[in-house]
Amino acid sequence: GRSWTDIGDLDEAAAGRSVLVRGFAERFRPVSNKMTFIVLRKKMSTVQCVLVANADAGVSTQMVRFATSLSRESVIDVEGVVSVPKEPLKSTTQQVEIQVRKVYCISRAIAALPFNLEDAVRSEAEFEKAEQDGEKLVRVCQDTGLNYRVVELRTATYQATFRIQSDVENIFREYLYSKSFIGVHTPKLISGSSEGGAAVFELQYHGQPACLAQSPQLYKQMCISGGFGHVFEVGSIFRAENSNTHRHLCEFTGLDAEMEINEHYFEVCDIIDGLFVAIFKHLNENCKNLLEIINKQYPFEPLKYLEKTLKITYEEGIQMLKDAGTEIEPMSDLNTEAEKKLGRLVKEKYGTEFFILYRYPLAVRPFYTMPCYEDPAYSNSFDVFIRGEEIISGAQRIHTHELLRKRAIECGIDTSTISSYIESFSYGVPPHGGFGVGLERVVMLFCGLNNIRKTSLFPRDPQRLTP
Ligand code: 4AD
Repeated sequence: GRSWTDIGDLDEAAAGRSVLVRGFAERFRPVSNKMTFIVLRKKMSTVQCVLVANADAGVSTQMVRFATSLSRESVIDVEGVVSVPKEPLKSTTQQVEIQVRKVYCISRAIAALPFNLEDAVRSEAEFEKAEQDGEKLVRVCQDTGLNYRVVELRTATYQATFRIQSDVENIFREYLYSKSFIGVHTPKLISGSSEGGAAVFELQYHGQPACLAQSPQLYKQMCISGGFGHVFEVGSIFRAENSNTHRHLCEFTGLDAEMEINEHYFEVCDIIDGLFVAIFKHLNENCKNLLEIINKQYPFEPLKYLEKTLKITYEEGIQMLKDAGTEIEPMSDLNTEAEKKLGRLVKEKYGTEFFILYRYPLAVRPFYTMPCYEDPAYSNSFDVFIRGEEIISGAQRIHTHELLRKRAIECGIDTSTISSYIESFSYGVPPHGGFGVGLERVVMLFCGLNNIRKTSLFPRDPQRLTP
């Protein structure tokens, strides 16, 4: 029945109270053999604990010695009385101190830290300033951070990043629930590739070749065939392509949705519009402190977006690029550079960094994509961009058996590996469409981060399978 308190809840209202807190020992600052400061950290909060030998309070010099012998990042319990310091505290988040009565070590850090946590949160500007001042600061390079990921994740920047990610996922679910979607879980062990192409992880499934799902595409459509009307899924997606870039992972979290369409596939775009405006609003209004923490290490401009998401055609996008001196090969996809440039042009012209580019050439879209009724060289499909990078692709799907089979064959797909998917279209399926979002990319691009490894807890890329 002792009174446990979360470090983050300690404030002036607790002054004079006796509390018990647990945290990582972030810093020790011994003053003498009779006095030491310990900064304890829990989640994103830190508090200063003052330990002074004092016979009246039952604090022995041995206890002070014991505390100074502890290693950084050990897990420590502190019992003490909350006090308000005369001067504001600059190096802790909490503006009160704990006058320590007892210290217990719960779990000792036995390994030397691979890097100091304060080195892992410095901004580029700090490094540059230190360099000018002739001071030598240690940079924690990406691989070192990833090799010791659990240590790196303890920094405020990462704590904030993954809280934001959790909120994005939550708003995705909440918004789609409010629009009558239900959540589903489709198999990740499947018999054939779901997006076409060779970039699948192959495996043996009880003696039969199988692969890890590249997307829930085929099964989320089969949920429409199964009569659910509107479905979403939050799940793992596996891509075996050997892409060593700032925005490709071999395993990432897909936010997928699939829905019946009444009249036009823009109904899918309207869902995306409402969903993303809700996500951006939530982040800007309710996650200010988290965004500020990230901003301190990685400065970024707030995302510019419109209340009603801008939609422009692929043709218009190509024309804008052409007018600005970039020629795109006719009816081809945009490369990374062209996407970036188009992002800048759209921002200049329309004042938004979030927009939908629609009516792509059919030839650059997956086989299940619905061709345009008026001009089958095009398709009822779209990509969505944030800050000049793709975060969503979506489309209306083919819902008739004959056309689906024909398109699969035209795209060179071995239909025997997806025959149950194709067959499921022979029982009457309503017109439908949907989209897929990469969760890590949403967070990366909203926060203007330069690498997707910063928004994946334990990233999987072609070079990395551990930790
Ligand atoms: O564009 P993709 O491949 O589309 C599909 O999987 C479709 N089945 C979606 C649909 O419903 N039509 O992937 C969708 C999104 C991309 O826009 C991107 O945000 C993310 O998933 N993504 C990746 N994220 C991290 N690493 C990768 N290798 C990714 N590949 C795609």
